[in-house]
Amino acid sequence: MSTTFPFPVPPLLVDALRSARRLVAFTGAGVSAESGVATFRDAQTGIWARFSPEALATPDAFAADPERVWAWYETRRAGVLATAPNPAHHALAGLAARLPESRLITQNVDDLHERAGSTGVLHLHGSLFAARCFDCARPAPLPPPLAAGAQPDRLAPPRCTACGGPLRPGVVWFGESLPADVWAAAEAATAACDLFLCIGTSALVWPAAELPSLAVRRGARLAVINPAPTPLDRAAGWCLAAPAGQALPALLAAAWPE
Ligand code: OAD
Repeated sequence: MSTTFPFPVPPLLVDALRSARRLVAFTGAGVSAESGVATFRDAQTGIWARFSPEALATPDAFAADPERVWAWYETRRAGVLATAPNPAHHALAGLAARLPESRLITQNVDDLHERAGSTGVLHLHGSLFAARCFDCARPAPLPPPLAAGAQPDRLAPPRCTACGGPLRPGVVWFGESLPADVWAAAEAATAACDLFLCIGTSALVWPAAELPSLAVRRGARLAVINPAPTPLDRAAGWCLAAPAGQALPALLAAAWPE
């Protein structure tokens, strides 16, 4: 069932939320859109509409031009630091406080869930706030962030103190595997959940996009929150066609009125 905002929050979804024992919230770039962080696939404003993933988000791209790739990720890190969590991030942190058995799984590489107070977030695609050596994989501290608004075309990556290799951003690039421990925890939480909230993702990137279907196969109910249609809508019990920053607070307020 698809419901367009402003809506009366579907009463059965409110019941499902209130009675959920193990909830999974699964987020994508749309959750950070209202904070001003660009999504990836939205036409014109999406990151991949403006930049080539092949030139910036693969190991080959880094090997070919580390200074360009490092500058781009450092610019993104500074951009995220200049933003703040929005009502969707805060609502998800509030949800975890209500449902201690819940788990938050994100594809986002920003830190806005954490800044809203969420803990134990499973970052499937890594983080802009981590770095490691491209050669020996040893984790390394990041340098001070760029000034807000700085957009250098090129920036030399710092060198690894152990082997001298260039540092790379701690994100998962195309063609790379997800961090195995994070993926295992995400799969386990998904397989065990009774309600799966899929929020602000196009659900096109695998293997992350497999999680909602896994939840449904294991008997969980699925709710999708996204202003645009997604491939998951047919399998969902509820589709809330609304920005996450409006839908999530409305859902929480309906489930737990003050
Ligand atoms: P996408 O850019 O593919 O999808 C963003 C989704 O958010 C779209 O379906 C939008 O309709 C929706 N959206 C936009 N504004 C919204 C709002 N205010 N509230 C709710 N939804 C909104 O981003 P992801 O699905 O996160 O990979 O992309 C998945 C992965 O592809 C990313 O993690 C990234 C990218 O390549 C890596 O970095 C490895």
